[in-house]
Formats: sequence, C-alpha cells, structure tokens
Amino acid sequence: MPKVLISDKMDPKAAQIFRERGVEVDEITGKTPAELIAMIGEYDGLAIRSSTKVTAEILAHATNLKVVGRAGIGVDNVDIPAASAKGVVVMNTPFGNSITTAEHAIALMFALARQLPEADASTQAGKWEKNRFMGVELTAKTLGLIGAGNIGGIVADRARGLKMKVVAFDPFLTPERAVEMGVEKVTLDELLARADFITLHTPLTDSTRNILSAENIAKTKKGVRIINCARGGLIDEAALKAALDSGQVGGAALDVFQTEPAKDSPLFGTPNFVSTPHLGASTTEAQVNVAIQVAEQMADFLVSGGVTNA
Ligand code: MLT
Repeated sequence: MPKVLISDKMDPKAAQIFRERGVEVDEITGKTPAELIAMIGEYDGLAIRSSTKVTAEILAHATNLKVVGRAGIGVDNVDIPAASAKGVVVMNTPFGNSITTAEHAIALMFALARQLPEADASTQAGKWEKNRFMGVELTAKTLGLIGAGNIGGIVADRARGLKMKVVAFDPFLTPERAVEMGVEKVTLDELLARADFITLHTPLTDSTRNILSAENIAKTKKGVRIINCARGGLIDEAALKAALDSGQVGGAALDVFQTEPAKDSPLFGTPNFVSTPHLGASTTEAQVNVAIQVAEQMADFLVSGGVTNA
C-alpha cells in the first residue's frame, strides 16, 4: 500500500480521500526540516501547502518518494530541478482556489477605492472623519490585468460585472480568448498608461520579476491603484513605497510580499496602503477544493500511475 505524508495543515477531506483510495496516510504537521529529513524516507507521496519547503536536502533523503502534491497553485516551495533530477513528480491544483483568489483581488480593489481599512480604524477610534475619506467609483474605470490566465479571467469577469473596462497584458493571451473574456489585449506600456487600477495575476518567473519596477511604475497614470494577490517579487517594493509617497501611485494593496512572512516592511503605515497576510486562497471553499484535488491526483498517480497537473 503506498504511503503519503500530509506535512501541512490541510482540510480533513484529503486524508479521507487517500484512505478511501487505498493509500495509507499520516498527517504530521509543523515539523522542522531536520525532522522531515529523518522521516521522509518511508513515504511515497508528500502532500503540502505552503509551509513545508521541499528542498534538495529533503529530496536527497526521500528514498521512496514518487510524488509531491501542492494543495494550491504556486510550487515555489518545491525545488523543482532537484525533484525532476530524482524523477519525483510535482503536482499542483491550478483551479481549486482561483475564484477565492480572484474575489480577494476584487475585495482589495474596493478597499482601495473607498479606503475601507483606514475608515474602519478611524471610525472605531471614535473619530467620525466623514470628510477625510473621499473615494472613487469603480464603474467606468479601466482595470489593467497583468496576467489573464485562470485567476485573471475570473477577475475580468467580475470587473466587467462592475461595469469596468478591462485591458489585459499577457503574452499567452490569444486574440480569440481576449474577445471571449471581453477584454482588450494591450502591451504592457499601454496598460500602464491607461489603467486606473492594476491587478497582477501572473506567476513569478525571470520575465515577470519586478514587472512593476521603478521604471514601469513611472509610466503609470498618476494616482493609479495597484493590487497584488499573486506573488511578492512582481513589484519592486521600494519603488512602490516611493511612488505612494510621491502620489504617483494613489493606493496599493498587497496580499503577497517579496519576503514572507512579512512582519516588517517600509510599506507598513504608509497612507493608502492596505495589506493582508497572503490570504488569497484562504476560504473554507478553496481549502476544501484544493485538499480534494491534491488527494485525488496523488492517489490516482500512486495507485494507477495517472498524472494530472504535473
Ligand atoms: C497558491 O499558490 O495557491 C496561493 O498563493 C495560495 C497559497 O500559497 O497559500
């Protein structure tokens, strides 16, 4: 019987599915890298979220490991070259948390448009600063999507429902798909020049790192509001801080940071800056979805060799 270790907190559905499919499962979370190294040898599969870092060192001790399953989209916490060199398949669940993440981006867009966190803090401090918080409408504004894949597509759909105009920069977006999504495909420079709000929905790669660099932020419409629920590293945080201070950027909401956990940042305390601790995928529904998907995929692979989302 194949044996799987669930090493991060995961919805109980995952363990249930493994057992139903004839896979033995241990749920042991919160282990240090050294403890994981000591135990990994007995497992055929490792199911993770974002806490476990599957390093080359852990993989070197994973003598029986055949598959790593990430209950989520990004596989940044897995050393993919080291896994590939060992013939370990790495799977993700690209769809289970897309709606949830898209909804978080929309929530942050509203938070910026109406300064909700600052207005809430001020009201609860007994200040009643009705004149301080003048917002903007979303209707008829232009939303610039950097990345028009699965999550970006859902954001576009919701934004169009809010009567926004959506322009998208994505080298992989076909003209046909752009029409289907009801978005206008544009170059990055065009998006920067036209968008009232910019939201990022692209993985962090060599070509997207610092896509919102100081140089690109300088090309934005003055007062643009920026949302990032994708990956830290897509925005140059020092440049963002300077642009918020100068007013070039009118507001920014980050769910993700260059370094996580982000317990300190020059951005903290900046007016018109909103932050959440990488909550993009944190809904009950999404966590159930990704747990089910990762367990089904890993069990298929371990029991019958079927490969999905590798
Ligand atoms: C993902 O990659 O699925 C999201 O960023 C969620 C997460 O890492 O928790």
